[in-house]
Parts: sequence; C-alpha cells; structure tokens
Amino acid sequence: MKQRLHPFLNILPKGKTALRPRIYPRLHGSPCTRLLFTAPNTHRSRQFHKSLGPGLLVAVGLSASFIFSSVVHAEAPPKHDDVPQTRLIRLSEVEKHGGDAETQWITKGTRVYDITEWIPGHPGGEVILRAAGGAVDSYWDIFTIHKKQEVYDILDSYYIGDVDPSDLIDGEVPVDHIDNPFKNDPIRDERLIVHSQYPCNAETPTTELVKFITPNETFYVRNHMWVPETSLKGHTITIELPNGDEKMYTMEELTEKFQKVSITAALQCSGNRRKDMSEWSRQTNGLPWSIGGISNAVWSGVRLRDVLEDAGFPVNDLQDAVKHAQFMGAEAYGASIPIDKAVDKRGDVLLAYEMNGQPLPHDHGFPVRVLVPGNVAARSVKWVNRVVVSEEESPSQWQQRDYKCFGPNVNGNVDWSTAPAIQEMPVQSAITSLRDISCNATQDSGLPQINDLKGDVVAVEGYAYSGGGRAIVRVDLSADGGRTWHQAQLLKDLPEGEGGHKAWAWTRWRSVIPRHKAGKCFVVKAVDEAYNTQAGEYEPYYNFRGNLTSSWHKVEYRPGESEIT
Ligand code: MTE
Repeated sequence: MKQRLHPFLNILPKGKTALRPRIYPRLHGSPCTRLLFTAPNTHRSRQFHKSLGPGLLVAVGLSASFIFSSVVHAEAPPKHDDVPQTRLIRLSEVEKHGGDAETQWITKGTRVYDITEWIPGHPGGEVILRAAGGAVDSYWDIFTIHKKQEVYDILDSYYIGDVDPSDLIDGEVPVDHIDNPFKNDPIRDERLIVHSQYPCNAETPTTELVKFITPNETFYVRNHMWVPETSLKGHTITIELPNGDEKMYTMEELTEKFQKVSITAALQCSGNRRKDMSEWSRQTNGLPWSIGGISNAVWSGVRLRDVLEDAGFPVNDLQDAVKHAQFMGAEAYGASIPIDKAVDKRGDVLLAYEMNGQPLPHDHGFPVRVLVPGNVAARSVKWVNRVVVSEEESPSQWQQRDYKCFGPNVNGNVDWSTAPAIQEMPVQSAITSLRDISCNATQDSGLPQINDLKGDVVAVEGYAYSGGGRAIVRVDLSADGGRTWHQAQLLKDLPEGEGGHKAWAWTRWRSVIPRHKAGKCFVVKAVDEAYNTQAGEYEPYYNFRGNLTSSWHKVEYRPGESEIT
C-alpha cells in the first residue's frame, strides 16, 4: 500500500467521482489558493484525459475552475502542525521505482514524486514511464507543454519528498542520473542543415534538392522527440477497430501476408519555407525552415487499406460514425487522417518499411511508418505501432494544435479547436539552383533548352509540388521580380502511370535565361491541375505558426554566385 506523505494526497479521489475540483494550496511560492481538477484513476478519467490531449488539459483546468467555482466547497487547508517533516529520499531509492516497478517515481529538480496514479490518466500516454526511476527534467524540456503552472500544480499533488542532499552536487541532481532521451539517435549526414540537434530537425541542402529522388542520408528529418529503440523482430503494429477488437501484426506477418506496393512521393513539413514568411512578413513561431523541409523518395510497403480489411474493418462499407484513422508512434507522437483517405483504393496510404529500396533508416521510422501521400508529412507517423479506427481525431497535440492555421491578425492566444487540422497540402514551388553558365560551357550543361541560346545564360532549377495528388501543370518563372514571366520546362522524371495512383511526387523544372535579361530577383510560382496557384504577397497569408508558407519563392540574383541559401 502506497504511503503518501503530502498532507493533501489523502484527498485525491479514489474512483468516487470522475472529476473533483478542490481548493489547492500552491506548494511552491506564496500560499495562495487555486482551484484544481484532480482526476481519479478510473477508466472514465482516462477517457477524459485522452480525449483532451496533452495541450488541452491546461485549458480545461482553467475553464473548469470557472464553471465549478460557484458550487465548490473548499476543503480546509492543513493546520501548520499537520505538515510533516520533508522526507529525504536517496537517488538509489528513486531508481528502484522505474517503469517496470510496482510504483513509479520521478524527480523534477530536487523534488521527488510518486506518479503511479497519474500514469493511466497522463494525456501523453505511457511515455511518461521512460522517465520513471529518474529525472523528468530532460523530457519536460522536450514536451514544453508541461511548463505551465497548472501542470506544475498537478505534479505537486504527487510530491513525496526531496532528494537527499548527500546525493546532490552543487545542490543539483548529478548529470549521470539524468537520462539522455536521445541516446539512440543515429549519426547523421553532415550535409543536412541542422535547425535543432535534439530533437533532430534538419533540412535537405539545396545541392540535394535538385535530385528527383532524395537519397536517404540527405532526406530532411523532422523529429519531435527522440528516435525510439526499435527492432525488426520486436516491432508490432496493433489495429484497433471501433468495437474494441484488436489484431496485432509482426513485421514478418506484415511483409509476408500483404502485397508489396511502391509509390514515389514527396513529404513536406508544414513548416517548409517558414523562414520566408518570417522574412517577408513578420516573425513566426517555429523553426526557420528554408526550402529544404521537403524531399522525395520511393516508398515501399503494404496498403493500410489491406491491413485494416484483414483486421476485420469493412473498408468497402464505411459506417458514418467512423471518421478517422489514428496512428501512434513508438516514442509518443500521434496523428490521424480522415478514414476516407485511409481506405481509398487510389489514396495509396502505406505502412511503409522501405525507402529508396533500403529498410527505412532509423530517423525515418524504422522498421515501419505510415506514408500518407499528398497530405502534410505530420500525418505520416514514424515508428508506428498502433492504428485506431475511430470516431475521433487523434487527441495528440500535433493533431489538436500546432499543425493548424489562423488568420493574419491572430496572435498566439487562440482557441485551437476553432481551426481544422492541416491535411492536404497547397501548391508549392521553389528555386533550388541559379547558375551562371558561359556560352563556352553550354554543350556540357545538361540543360535541354540551352543549346538554342547564344551567349551567357543563367540556368534555373527547382521543384514544384501540390497536395492531394494534384499534378503540377505549369511553372511560371520571372527573372525581373515578377514583372514579366515565362514558362519553365517540366521534367518527366516519372514515366506515365508510375509512382502511384496520383501525382504524389514533386515535379522538377528547369529554365535558362539570357544573362542580359536577368534582373536582381528571380521568382517562381506553380499551378496545379485544379488551377490552384501561389500568391505573390506574404502578409495576407501570415499565420503566427508560419505553417503552409507558399507565396512566390524569390531569390536574389548575384552574378557569379550559384548557391542558394
Ligand atoms: N512520426 C513520429 N513518430 N514522430 C515525429 O516526430 N514527425 C512528423 C512525421 N511523423 C514525426 C512523425 C513530421 S512533423 C514530419 S514533417 C515528418 O514525420 C517528417 O518525416 P521525416 O523525418 O522522415 O522526413
């Protein structure tokens, strides 16, 4: 039986009510009173937390305090005499309470918490077990959503004592007691342009963006957390159906039972070109991706549709109530897509285990990831181990928040539930190379149009892409800042009918301009088969998260310099 030392822990509800507001003294800082929800360790509370998702917990805590304030009777704060002496706990004792132990403890700073009762209701799921038996600090640096007073207060309700000072160095828990969540991260190619190392966020360099197929080593990496420890033998995917039935597949079953399919598809982060939005409009909130938050590869795997059908889901007879396919990654990431896309015969959604003919690299989801071509890459969940067919979207913060857009006038204070999650991508294009080529070198340039021209030229290359499988039908290029235009040549890298049911890959384009016609600024815009095109300005399309930047890509032309940064 667990011994709780904090005077308030004995008022934690033990399954009597699903939610119980209570007056709670702030445990650090001044002894003001505040109202706080505590959720008991019940199925109902788990559902409650799950349906909120991590990001919404805080908001609900706040609004709930408002709703309940008129009916709540404060529980009396403890008399000073009741407060027990602080319990001092050795780090070796904390270590005994890891993920596999009967009860789980963590440290945060120099304080110790018994979080056993919190785990089932933890909105981020059981990922919290990774920190059990050690320090939670490095995880909270990743899941910054925790850094809110309301969450500190919840944690404080699980406080059981302080780390014994004899274990501290300079008053802090020694570094070797703090787990490095990134210890399994692979060594990465030095050519990647790194925006953050831990978690790894690195974009494809322009020298690699000119290739139709991006090599695995230089394919952009977007991780929200660490790369989880996974293996071919140990990895499984569980399919959960709306009636609660589950079916689990090993990797062997997945590869042997179902037809192998290959598609060529670009993945694009919603933050691709965010840097342009910040530069041409206003500061945005997020990593400053330039034009390399996109890459293109051949993906092989099995159709999600086939696996769902095998698991007993009627893919040809969808019930109205079933609306989403949710995906969970092994490290705690989650996202979902509409069920129509998940089961669409021509939607080409894969459980992919190969990338460019190789097993998926660890950074890209080894041994298996979801591949949702045409949609924002945030839905292509890596290291996927669970698929849930559901009435609801994924409760994760990456579905409920973050990957959404608001109007240009809206700042960070938003009700995230008022905007839909990004799914299909808009039309996009970028200039990946500008080169001065002298007339003497034209024979070897490899640029098809060039031999018709006399004199020195500027060779321009780039990519164009649109979401939803919409093909690129035209790329317009201007060498004078958008005053005059001509059409670039679209390269036919994929033979007709290859690469999947729709245009999932990017389209490369090229052009050459006589040097004397080159102004100071080159501009590109693309048009897709629905005649969607890119806007000229940035400010009217500003959104504070800098998502889906797709206004004209502009590159300053400096004679003699070929590299685009
Ligand atoms: N899946 C997991 N499990 N964890 C993640 O952090 N990031 C998502 C998506 N799937 C992510 C994930 C985002 S935001 C993007 S843009 C793509 O993966 C990036 O895929 P890549 O790293 O293979 O390029």
